[in-house]
Amino acid sequence: MEIQLWREILDPYYLAVNELIVKFNHIIEEYKHAGTYSPIELVTGRVKTISSILEKAHKKNLSLDNFEENIDDIAGIRIICQFVEDIYKVVDIIRKRSDMRIKCEKDYIKNMKESGYRSYHIIAYYNVETLNGTKELQVEIQIRTLAMNFWATIEHSLRYKYKQNMPDNIRERLSAASDAVLKLDMEMSSVRDEIMDAQSSFTIKANIVADILTSIQNLYEVANKQEVKKIQDEFFRIYQGGDLSQLEKFYRELDCIAQRYRAQSLR
Ligand code: GTP
Ligand code: MG
Repeated sequence: MEIQLWREILDPYYLAVNELIVKFNHIIEEYKHAGTYSPIELVTGRVKTISSILEKAHKKNLSLDNFEENIDDIAGIRIICQFVEDIYKVVDIIRKRSDMRIKCEKDYIKNMKESGYRSYHIIAYYNVETLNGTKELQVEIQIRTLAMNFWATIEHSLRYKYKQNMPDNIRERLSAASDAVLKLDMEMSSVRDEIMDAQSSFTIKANIVADILTSIQNLYEVANKQEVKKIQDEFFRIYQGGDLSQLEKFYRELDCIAQRYRAQSLR
C-alpha cells in the first residue's frame, strides 16, 4: 500500500488517540477541582506503527483489505491507576459515557494470562469527525495499576528481546515478579483509604491556596496596599503552620474582606 494511503487511513486514529487523551485527562482535572481522589493516575496513547500493523496482519494471516475491522488496537489508550479498585471505577466511567460504545471487555485481572500479564481491556467504538464525514473506529483501552504497568513494560521488552525463545529461567522469574506485583497491589489496597485521605487533603489544600492567592491578588487591585501586605504576611504564617482548618478559616475571612470591598466599589 502507498505510504500516502497509509497516512490517510491512520490519520483518524491519531485524532481519536489525541481526543481520548484530552478527555481522560479532563476526568483527572474534574476530580482535582472537586477536591476528590482521581481513580485515573495518568493516561497515555499511541497509534500502531505501519510496521507493527503489517507484522500483526502477517502473524494472524489477515488480509489488508479489511484490517481496520480485524486489528482492534490500531488506536491504543492506556489508563494507569494507583489501585486495583480504581480500575473498576474507570471501567464504570467508560461504560456510562455516550461517546464510546463498548464492543468487548477482557478482564485479565480476574483471569490472569499465562504469562502473568494483568490488565483490564476494553475494545470500544469511537467516532471522529473528518473532512469526509464521521468515521467510526475501534480503540483498545488498557486499564492497569502502576505496578501492573511496570511488570508489563519489562515483560514486553524481554519478550521483544527473546522473540519466541524466552529462556525458561527468565519466564519463571517474570512469573515470580508477577506474583510479587499481585501482592504489592493487595498490600496497597489495604492502605488505600489512608493514602486516598492524604491525597484528597493535599488536593483540597492546593485548591484553597490557589483560591487565597487569587483573592489576595484581586484585593491588591482595589484595597489599601499596606492592608493587603498584612493579609499576605498573615497568609504565609498560616500556610507555614500547615493546618488545613486554619487555612479554611483564613479563606472565609478573606472572602468577607473581599465582599466588603466589592460592596464599597458599588456604592
Ligand atoms: P494481540 O494480538 O496481542 O492484540 O492479542 P489479542 O488480540 O488476543 O488481545 P489481548 O487482549 O490478548 O492483547 C492485547 C494487548 O494486550 C497486546 O497487544 C499487549 O499490548 C497486551 N498484552 C496481552 N498479553 C500480554 C502479555 O503477556 N504481556 C504484555 N507485556 N502485554 C500483553
Ligand atoms: Mg488485540
